[in-house]
Amino acid sequence: MNSSFLDYILRIKLPIVLFVAVASFALTYFISRPERDGIGYAPDQPITFSHKLHSGDMKIDCKYCHIGVEKSRHAMVPQVSTCMNCHSIARKDRPEIIKLTEYYNEGKALPWKRIHRVADFAYFNHSVHVNRGIDCTVCHGDVGRMDKVLQVNSFTMGACLDCHRSPHTNIPNVTEINNGPTNCFACHR
Ligand code: HEC
Ligand code: HEC
Ligand code: HEC
Ligand code: HEC
Ligand code: HEC
Repeated sequence: MNSSFLDYILRIKLPIVLFVAVASFALTYFISRPERDGIGYAPDQPITFSHKLHSGDMKIDCKYCHIGVEKSRHAMVPQVSTCMNCHSIARKDRPEIIKLTEYYNEGKALPWKRIHRVADFAYFNHSVHVNRGIDCTVCHGDVGRMDKVLQVNSFTMGACLDCHRSPHTNIPNVTEINNGPTNCFACHR
C-alpha cells in the first residue's frame, strides 16, 4: 500500500467517518429526547381535554377512562365513545365538542399524542404497581390539577431501580410493600 493513500485514510477519511457517526448518534439521541427523559414534556393535543376539569372538579374516577390500570400492562387512553357517554348531550354546541363529535361520527380514533413512554426493550406493567396500592400521583404527579398533562418524572432505568430498592421512601402512604425486582430479566425480557 502506498503511504500517501494510508495518509489519506488516516488524516481525511477516518475523521470524516467518525464525525458523521458521532453526529448522527447525537442527532438521534436528541430527537428521541422527549420520550427518553421526558420531564416537562406536554404536547398540544387534538382536543383540549382538561384533567383538571374532568377528574379534579367533576371527580370522574381515573379508571372510568383508563380502564386498563388494574388489569393490564397498559392504562389505555379512552375511545371517543367513552367521551360521548356525556358529550352527546353535555356542551354539544362548543367548538371542541363539535370536533369531538365529528371524530365519533366518522368512526375515527383521536390521534392523542403519547406523553409517557418507556423504551421498547424494557417491560413495564401498570396493574402490578397499581394493585400494590401505588397511587397514580407517585409516578405521574397530580394529574387532577393539570389542564394539560405534563410529564413530571423520568422513567429511566435509574428511576425505576431507585424505587425498587427502597419503595418505602418513594411511596410514603403504603406501609406494607415488597421491594421491586432488580434482576435484569424482570425488566428486559
Ligand atoms: C374523562 C376521561 C378521563 C379521566 C377521568 C382521566 N383521564 Fe387521563 N387521559 C384521558 C385522555 C383523553 C388522555 C389523552 C389526552 C391527554 O393527554 O390529555 C389522558 C391522558 C392521561 C395521561 C398521559 C398519557 C400519556 O400519553 O402518557 C395520564 C398520565 C393520565 N391521563 C392520568 C390520569 C389520572 C391519574 C386520572 C385520574 C386522576 C385520569 N387520567 C383521569 C382521559 C381521562
Ligand atoms: C362523565 C361525563 C363526561 C365524560 C365521560 C367526558 N366529559 Fe368532557 N365535559 C363534561 C362536562 C359536564 C363538561 C362541562 C363542564 C363545565 O364547563 O363546567 C365537559 C367539558 C369538556 C370540554 C370543554 C368544552 C367547552 O369548551 O366548554 C371538553 C373539550 C371536553 N369536555 C372533552 C372531553 C373528552 C375528549 C372526553 C373523553 C376523553 C370527555 N370530555 C369525557 C362531562 C364529561
Ligand atoms: C410505578 C409508576 C406508575 C404508576 C403507579 C402509574 N403509572 Fe401510568 N405510566 C407509567 C409508565 C412508566 C408509563 C409508560 C408505559 C409504557 O411506555 O409502556 C405510563 C403510561 C401511562 C399512560 C399512557 C398510556 C398507557 O397505557 O401506557 C396512562 C394513560 C397512564 N400511565 C395512566 C395512569 C393512571 C390512571 C394511573 C393510576 C391508576 C397510573 N398511570 C399509575 C408509570 C406509572
Ligand atoms: C414508586 C415505586 C416504583 C416505581 C417508580 C417503579 N416500580 Fe416497578 N415495582 C415497584 C414495586 C413495589 C414492585 C413489587 C411489587 C410486589 O411484588 O409486591 C414492582 C414490581 C415491578 C415488576 C415485577 C412485576 C412483573 O410484572 O413482573 C416489574 C417488571 C417492574 N416493577 C418494572 C418497573 C419499571 C420498568 C419501572 C420504571 C419504568 C418501574 N417498575 C417503576 C415499585 C415501583
Ligand atoms: C426495574 C426495571 C429494570 C431493571 C431491573 C433493569 N433495567 Fe435496564 N433499563 C430499564 C429501563 C426502563 C430502561 C430504558 C431507559 C431509558 O429509556 O432511558 C433500561 C435501559 C437499559 C439499557 C440501555 C442503556 C440505557 O441506560 O438506556 C441497558 C444496557 C440496560 N438497561 C441493562 C440492564 C442490565 C444489565 C440490568 C441488570 C443488572 C438491568 N438493565 C436491569 C429498566 C430496568
